[in-house]
Amino acid sequence: MKSGSGSILVIDDDPALRQVLQEVLESAGFEVQTAADGESGLLLAKESSFDLVLTDLSLPGVGGMEILQFLVKHHPECPCIIITGFGTIKSSVDAMRSGAYDYLTKPVNPTELLVVVERALDHRRLKWENLQLKKQLQRRYGFANILGKSEAIQQVFEIIEKVADTDSTILIQGESGTGKELIARALHYNSSRREGPLIPVNCGAIPGELLESELFGHERGAFTHAVRTRIGRFELATGGTIFLDEIAEMSPNLQVKILRVLQDYSFERIGGVKTIRVNIRVIAATNKDLESLVHQGLFREDLYYRLNVIPIKVPPLRERESDIPLLARQFLKDFCARKKTPPKQLTAAALNCLSHYSWPGNVRELENLMERLAILIEGEVVDVAELPEKFHPRPLERLPEAMDFPERGLNLAAVVRDFEKNLILKALERSRGVKSQAAQLLHLNRTTLIEKMKNQKIQYPPATGKA
Ligand SMILES: Nc1ncnc2c1ncn2[C@@H]1O[C@H](COP(=O)(O)OP(=O)(O)OP(=O)(O)O)[C@@H](O)[C@H]1O
Ligand SMILES: [Mg+2]
Repeated sequence: MKSGSGSILVIDDDPALRQVLQEVLESAGFEVQTAADGESGLLLAKESSFDLVLTDLSLPGVGGMEILQFLVKHHPECPCIIITGFGTIKSSVDAMRSGAYDYLTKPVNPTELLVVVERALDHRRLKWENLQLKKQLQRRYGFANILGKSEAIQQVFEIIEKVADTDSTILIQGESGTGKELIARALHYNSSRREGPLIPVNCGAIPGELLESELFGHERGAFTHAVRTRIGRFELATGGTIFLDEIAEMSPNLQVKILRVLQDYSFERIGGVKTIRVNIRVIAATNKDLESLVHQGLFREDLYYRLNVIPIKVPPLRERESDIPLLARQFLKDFCARKKTPPKQLTAAALNCLSHYSWPGNVRELENLMERLAILIEGEVVDVAELPEKFHPRPLERLPEAMDFPERGLNLAAVVRDFEKNLILKALERSRGVKSQAAQLLHLNRTTLIEKMKNQKIQYPPATGKA
């Protein structure tokens, strides 16, 4: 007989059968623990983890069904095989429906027992390997076309994975070009609504009144040009997802109307009286800081809270530096293949320059640059010289030569301190106060910059002096 490996819990109140099962399984190489009733069986299942559980269905007290339900809920990876008395087909069918992997009828035939156990364990192994492979793929290639291995983007993947298959409203915030739309698509195509439509609406690109009828539709004759009834995008999205992009651009009037849709998923078409109910999932995105718009009274607070059920903040590219080489290489490879130009390699020095740039246009800017390089560069190597000027490392700026050396000499330490303070302020100004970026401009670690700011008592933005 083939020798098995794995740990098995056997729960049976019949001592003779329990012993037979234990002997057969142990002689096949399995590690076996036994329990004589449901209570102690359940306790064992709770305390340690098994590769497989074999349980009698009818046990006094805690029954086999209860043990099965516990396993399905808490250890879905552990297959459970049910042993039923002769002639109780119905209960075995019930057990299978509740998630049992298989069943055996008494009297248990040892050969059949081993076949069923091996099959269940093979199934478990396959399932586990599959899961590992999927995880590995996601780690390597990101989540549905979203590339990135940085801590910052991995955190975003984690949220996406958790919420994709729910109906919760999601608010994606991030600077322009960070991948908000890509994330919205990943959410839709990884949800159970993936067969339904994904309807995008760019709230910033459609003028106010038009946007209302785009979203809600209108009845014939609702206004002068409404010659026929029109179905709006909320209705079109039924069974799927509506992606409200650039949500901050929506007029206050429309904000109220959207709020109602988010509250009870119903509305009327413009000029209509019939209330239309829709089954939709809402994903919204913006490159504005919605919370501060709320504080400024430019965005409704109640709508903000309705949208912000699950917030996803997409970090700017400069805060995920380790993704830059990965993205650059992939984009360049893809564009060369798409444009049918010879494949090109970025040198380490070129990648280094790209990594130190601040990327105000984020991933889109990087993507565009790679497209240009794929077309314009003739050779097969892209070095620093092939990159646009702004990526080139700057020569060390020299001390202003015009500075006169004072007659009476100077206090070197104080002047150097002043000079340093000035340069730090300039860097902060250039990066609009973003410390990580200012640190990059100064070729410093962020923590070193913060340390220096503390020592020099530098505040940014500078205090105005008002109370
Ligand atoms: N992590 C990523 N991996 C691969 N491609 C990405 C990634 N992030 C963004 N992109 C690509 O960058 C481009 C910009 O992304 P997207 O349109 O999703 O940004 P956005 O945040 O919606 O920008 P905007 O605010 O300007 O609308 C797209 O071509 C997208 O495919
Ligand atoms: Mg977008």
